Amino acid sequence: MSPTAPSVSWVPDHVLFVVSQPYLSRTREQALFEALSAASPMPSRAIRLEGTGTNLPEALDGLCAEGAQAILVQPVGLPFSESLAAWLPGALAHWLQGAPEGTDIRFGADMALAPSVAGAVAHEALDRSGEAQPVAPVKPTLGPRGWDNPGNATDHVLVCAGPRCHFRGAPRLRTLLIEEARAAGVLRTTDITEMSCVGPCNRGPIVAHYPEGTWYTLHTAEDVRRFVRTVLIERMADATLACHRLQPAGEKVRA
Ligand code: FES
Repeated sequence: MSPTAPSVSWVPDHVLFVVSQPYLSRTREQALFEALSAASPMPSRAIRLEGTGTNLPEALDGLCAEGAQAILVQPVGLPFSESLAAWLPGALAHWLQGAPEGTDIRFGADMALAPSVAGAVAHEALDRSGEAQPVAPVKPTLGPRGWDNPGNATDHVLVCAGPRCHFRGAPRLRTLLIEEARAAGVLRTTDITEMSCVGPCNRGPIVAHYPEGTWYTLHTAEDVRRFVRTVLIERMADATLACHRLQPAGEKVRA
């Protein structure tokens, strides 16, 4: 057996549940984390791989600080993303390079398509069919009138909340941007929203600024301050932070 082959006798001392679910409110996220924690037979933590919460390296560091030496990183999703499952072992190995000596970490199997899990979902659905909400009495609508209004922002900053930017520190980015934009007095004219992966993950954490059409890499709080000052207040592109610029259709590029 190769040293990296799965071993049935291997027993973790901690489990880290990694949930991939882009559209999840804080309340639902917390409920899921508590359910996983209550069901886990050993000490566990749960994080999401998107959004603004604790990211993967921080969670692993935290477990090591609590004494974890054998960590099962268990993907949770119905089903879990194939591309994430392919990327995570390498990202975990990257983190392991700086982990305390002797730390063992393994990536769990995707349980979502296991017959027992699918069976549990199907059976629970039928067992609880009496709780199903009748739809006929509900007023037909695709959304409230407020959703007609695109707002009056002059700038749109899209913060990548994809899992790879999340790994590289994006969870703090949106909060920091909002704080800096508010302190600078430009939050009223700046829409700051999350987006999912746009491609160049290795340059993350990425924000895209429109209408300028330039993408930036913001690693630190100082990068965020500089972005707000230069791009949102002084109205200039920042070549130091920029990592890509969209080419408007028809624009000629000098070789
Ligand atoms: S996760 Fe941000 S660019 Fe891919």
